[in-house]
Amino acid sequence: MGKIFFGGDYNPQQWPESVWNDDMVLFEEANIDTVTVGVFMWGRLQSDEYTYDFSMLDRIMKRLKNENKNVILATATAAHPAWLARKYPDVTRVDFLGRKHTFGQRHNSNPNSKNYQHYAKILVRKIADRYKDYENIVAWHINNEYGGFDYSEESLIEFRLWLKKKYQSIELLNEKWNTDFWSHNYYSWDDIVFPNALSEHYGDNPNITAYQSLTLDYMRFNSDSLLNNFLMEKEIIKEITPHIPVTTNLMGMYKPLDYFKWGKEMDIVSWDNYPPNMQSQSRMALTHDLMRGINGGKQFWLMEQTPSMTACRGSNPVKPPGVMRLWSYQALAHGSNTVLFFQMRQNRNQSEKYHGAIIDHSGRNDTRTFKEVVKLGHELEKFEPTFLKSNKDSKVAIIFDWDSWWAVEMSDGPTRYLDYQQEMVKIYNQFFERNISIDVISKDDNFSKYELIIAPYLHMVPQTYQEKFEKYVESGGNLVLTCLSGIVDEYDNAYMDIKPGIFKNLAGIRIDETDSQELDIVNRIITNDNQDIGQCSMIFDIIQLDGAMPIYYYGDNFYKNTPVVTKNKYQDGFCWYVGSVLDDFTWDATMTMVLKECNISHIETPKNVEVSIRYFEENSWVFVMNHNQYETEIVSLWTGVDILSGRTFKKGDVLKIKASDLVIIKE
Ligand code: GLA
Repeated sequence: MGKIFFGGDYNPQQWPESVWNDDMVLFEEANIDTVTVGVFMWGRLQSDEYTYDFSMLDRIMKRLKNENKNVILATATAAHPAWLARKYPDVTRVDFLGRKHTFGQRHNSNPNSKNYQHYAKILVRKIADRYKDYENIVAWHINNEYGGFDYSEESLIEFRLWLKKKYQSIELLNEKWNTDFWSHNYYSWDDIVFPNALSEHYGDNPNITAYQSLTLDYMRFNSDSLLNNFLMEKEIIKEITPHIPVTTNLMGMYKPLDYFKWGKEMDIVSWDNYPPNMQSQSRMALTHDLMRGINGGKQFWLMEQTPSMTACRGSNPVKPPGVMRLWSYQALAHGSNTVLFFQMRQNRNQSEKYHGAIIDHSGRNDTRTFKEVVKLGHELEKFEPTFLKSNKDSKVAIIFDWDSWWAVEMSDGPTRYLDYQQEMVKIYNQFFERNISIDVISKDDNFSKYELIIAPYLHMVPQTYQEKFEKYVESGGNLVLTCLSGIVDEYDNAYMDIKPGIFKNLAGIRIDETDSQELDIVNRIITNDNQDIGQCSMIFDIIQLDGAMPIYYYGDNFYKNTPVVTKNKYQDGFCWYVGSVLDDFTWDATMTMVLKECNISHIETPKNVEVSIRYFEENSWVFVMNHNQYETEIVSLWTGVDILSGRTFKKGDVLKIKASDLVIIKE
């Protein structure tokens, strides 16, 4: 890979072949060099059990080769054909409410259907064999956006086997799940049923379960089932084309799948960036950093983003001028090595006919979207190949943990309101606004390179991690913990200890009671001389000090004047504990103090101006991005050439950056 791949999903099977010529001309004009093909072609490639027809894909592949385009070739298994569902009903899923689905939509195959697996494997082998000699295939795109849940009979059989493998004996499962609670003692593996609306869950809510141990294992099993589908295809592809990297497009902070597990199996981590609104810059930055994190810190690919609007929301705003370009650069600034879109030409009908595309229904080259894409496509030529080797360098990390995400949100008590993702964004934002580079890591990663680690809502932590966290702080590390941390083991059993469980030594506190209130009830946060700092809500740990020093206090309720934020010296390092869900003001005050004490510097910029830097050997690429819809100025801290405008900037120069624009200073 010598350049930043530019292009995206291309579905020419959906329009007349005469139009393909126009597509190629427009690709050339926009400098599009890479397309993903075949994502939803199964129905076209196989019309019954025995009949395959690759003629159209052959023509697409040949054409792209002749046009010197790179291809990301999909395995076409993301939407099964109608004949398969008709002939083998086990291929479709059963949902949380117990309803058996018929043929329809996509991403709808039962991951544990033997017939789905059988026919998917045959198809993948045929595709890999047929196109293996195409030297322009730069990656395999397995399936598409794996996701969702299944509660079918076939999956239940596999779930029992999965549990058997994990626990070996039903006695051990009973012990770990503590099944004496509500007479859940299981006598045989066959007693175990899925946790859904018909069994453990309250009403139609997949989040609220009476039996967390069971639901948690179901979540892990479901994530593994889909991962097994990925691995099943990967194995065939690797056998035939071991030299071509394999990916599947992830969905960022997607709750159902434990992407840290997935990342280990992918040659390239790639993801689709469809933020919920136009104010998502911090959230997108966090998600890019998470993708780097699940790729073990290595660069990732931006596989999809819309050039203008999506089509699946209540309202679907178009990206204002410059925003598509700016967000593409933001992905690069955080470690992406591609800028890819969904999609090249706009769908003619069905649910994506309004979805944005580089080429719209009219096929014109003078639409705003097309012109902006052309500009970007040519600008990307300005990056030399070494840029692709550059990466972020962080002294701070935040721990993202799927087990805790699942556990903390499905926990009945102390609150049903905690939104893990939202709180992550809130805390990440503290670093985003200060332009402090931060890695998003798992609790299994090596901590030693970090001066500061934030571990928000790390609720579920196996006992074995106690030593790891203590060693980190002992040897000079700084750790920030929040309420609900360290409380349960991996089976969701509370530690038979004072809270915060396995973090009690580090935090130097004791919590006997945790209050919880409706969302509109807040508590003030005050200093020891009664100055207001901000507010907190939802969860209120009533903290007794056991070696730690108080930093801030509650201002109201019967625990007024007891500590809410504390700091504990633990050998050579420090552990801060945040006992409530803080508002932005209190996080700001807390992090200002923590960062100062950890000697971690930040870069001051006007609001919504983001700085993100990639390094390789003696070079650095400083992205200064103005996410505002108006021009802004900042004083340069860097000396180098803006690779976009060619202008030279010195430290101290004033950088004027237009609305939704940026400079990239190469030092
Ligand atoms: C996902 C899919 C694409 C397309 C887009 C539309 O990312 O992978 O096939 O449907 O959504 O936003």
